[in-house]
Amino acid sequence: MKKRTIRLHCRELVEQINRLIAQMTLAEKLGQLTMTAADYAVTGPLITPVSEDAIRSGAIGNLLNLYGAGPTHRIQKIAVEESRLRIPLLLGFDALHGQRTVFPIPLAEAGLFDPAAWEATARLAAEECAGDGLNMTFAPMLDVSRDPRWGRIAESPGEDPFVGSAFARAKTRGFQSADLAGTNAVSACAKHYVAYGAINAGREYASTDMSEAMLREVYLPPFRAAVEAGVAAIMPAFTDLSGIPMTAHVHLLQNVLREELGFEGVLVTDYHAIAELLNHGVAGDLAEAAALALKAGIDIDMMSDAYRLGLPQALQRNLVAMEEIDAAVRRVLVLKERLGLFADPYRRGRSDVSVTAQSRALARDVGTRSLVLLKNDANILPLAAPKLAVIGPLADAGGEMRGPWGGAGRSEDCVGVLQGLTDAGLIVRHAPGVAIDTGDLSGVASALELCADADVILLCLGEAALMSGEAASRAYLGLPGAQQELADAVFEKAGGKPVVVVLFSGRPLAVPSLVSRAHAVLAAWFPGCEAGHAIADVLTGKVSPSGRTAVSWPRAVGQIPIFFGERPGGRPFNPKDHFTSHYSDVENTPLFAFGHGLTYGDFALSNLRVEPGNPLRVKVDVENRGARAAEETVFLFLNQKCAGVTRPVLELKGFGRIALAANARGTLTLTLPPPEGRAELFVGPSADLTSLLSLSI
Ligand code: GLC
Repeated sequence: MKKRTIRLHCRELVEQINRLIAQMTLAEKLGQLTMTAADYAVTGPLITPVSEDAIRSGAIGNLLNLYGAGPTHRIQKIAVEESRLRIPLLLGFDALHGQRTVFPIPLAEAGLFDPAAWEATARLAAEECAGDGLNMTFAPMLDVSRDPRWGRIAESPGEDPFVGSAFARAKTRGFQSADLAGTNAVSACAKHYVAYGAINAGREYASTDMSEAMLREVYLPPFRAAVEAGVAAIMPAFTDLSGIPMTAHVHLLQNVLREELGFEGVLVTDYHAIAELLNHGVAGDLAEAAALALKAGIDIDMMSDAYRLGLPQALQRNLVAMEEIDAAVRRVLVLKERLGLFADPYRRGRSDVSVTAQSRALARDVGTRSLVLLKNDANILPLAAPKLAVIGPLADAGGEMRGPWGGAGRSEDCVGVLQGLTDAGLIVRHAPGVAIDTGDLSGVASALELCADADVILLCLGEAALMSGEAASRAYLGLPGAQQELADAVFEKAGGKPVVVVLFSGRPLAVPSLVSRAHAVLAAWFPGCEAGHAIADVLTGKVSPSGRTAVSWPRAVGQIPIFFGERPGGRPFNPKDHFTSHYSDVENTPLFAFGHGLTYGDFALSNLRVEPGNPLRVKVDVENRGARAAEETVFLFLNQKCAGVTRPVLELKGFGRIALAANARGTLTLTLPPPEGRAELFVGPSADLTSLLSLSI
């Protein structure tokens, strides 16, 4: 539509909505500002649990955690055919990495460094969400995270804001498509605004505190990108930032998000967050909490009933004005109109939503590409012999492959490692050896017996799905339970026979001993419903691994936070000078650098050069000297000099991929906005400084 038409359309729309607001009672307005869960995962039922009467009376105007065409149509029918004002419901759910078809966790998917793939999985998730009658998903999660102790790093796009921003754009496009009213589009909800990943000591729900410079350089960019991509909703974080809870943060929600970044959508709180302003100690009662949130620009109160029960009192005590309530109601009704809910509240919802061959194919492709080959001594992989001893508690654990936010994904729809390997025609004997997280070693002996007759020993180790995700911080980052003891016993028993580790986790693990003793290590994260087939595709060589890690792997918890974008400091490490930045008991460098990931090729970069222009065109020649076709990922970093303030040693400014046959050559071109002032350009396969080509510009 032409700009004038859009303005006219918007003006007519707002007038229509204003007429509706003018008819609403206070209770009906507050119902539109309330989102209640159809199940009560955390806080237990509210004063007014979801009921047909609460929907019919307009006391509850939005729901979460209800999906399926039948249930959603039934509850929507009550809202639009039996309530006084017939206002349709927002219906939200967490489809963080898939709805029915579960894709790899976001931390793994980020490692594809492929925005088209990120968009494709969101698009398919949106189709399945819409099919399930949903019109909102609480995704993408855009919290930059540099602390693997934090369980929600699993949900994040990793440690870097440039990656997080590209992820934000791709996911917003994927979920919302070009037409938010489309029958396969849902409102995205970018979360958790902002800097949740910087929680103190990596402990879940702890405070955050930082400079405005750090906030703007690291944590804000992905949300800026989501707003620029048109994200329709944003969820503030549970946390407080420098003493102000995000749910009541007038400066960051009003001045920065709405005024500076131009966000015009709906702000929906996290679960029960308004009521938790009392725990934060900034509100004395529910009325004060509700008033603080409303003045900060919060539109929807998820699961604390603070708006419904607190705002009437807040009005009486002149803590808020009716105009502020109306402004929030208006934004919610505009979103419902943009979703096409007034025109056809039943436009979403079909009874045949399921995992299909097509969706599985996408899950297998993305799953395969998310796997990160961390180590491959003597090119032990791909497997050259068919007889495997498969040992470990995660070999036959299909349900765990969903990761911590499996959402509507079903365990029975997931392919575990054993099934994947046997489907690939391998001869497999299996013993778990130990459980995931107990000290019981009684199964180790029988597991060791499998080693004698095997060509290769495959260890499937790592975390259970719920050891990462929300409320799952860990202070130690080794293998849980007695898995390290199992691994050590296998290394002893193997007697030089190849031992390959497939490592499942929602975070980088600090496992230097496991890595040093294994011949090969494949980081599988949680690869989703096609996990077993994806892992078999890589282990057998059907597909060359191409995944990279979107987060640095620490050698020790004591190194955390560890990330490539550090500032140089006045005494950067110099091995010849004791009085420079270092530890006395561990190297400064990570166990594996951001971007690390091996392939079955053998790539070399050369001839880095820059062609002038705006943007600059950065070119590098790439050769695959290996005997197998493979795909290389190449990163472009910048170090800005004398910029008035200290700049990170490396700032990621671009990435690209190039697939080459054996012994083939190619040239990769990346673009870069001309830097201000002097700078050093770095190009290479990861943030490992020893692997980079550089050029002064
Ligand atoms: C949870 C999470 C948030 C999620 C919401 C609804 O507590 O913090 O990410 O979207 O509640 O499930």
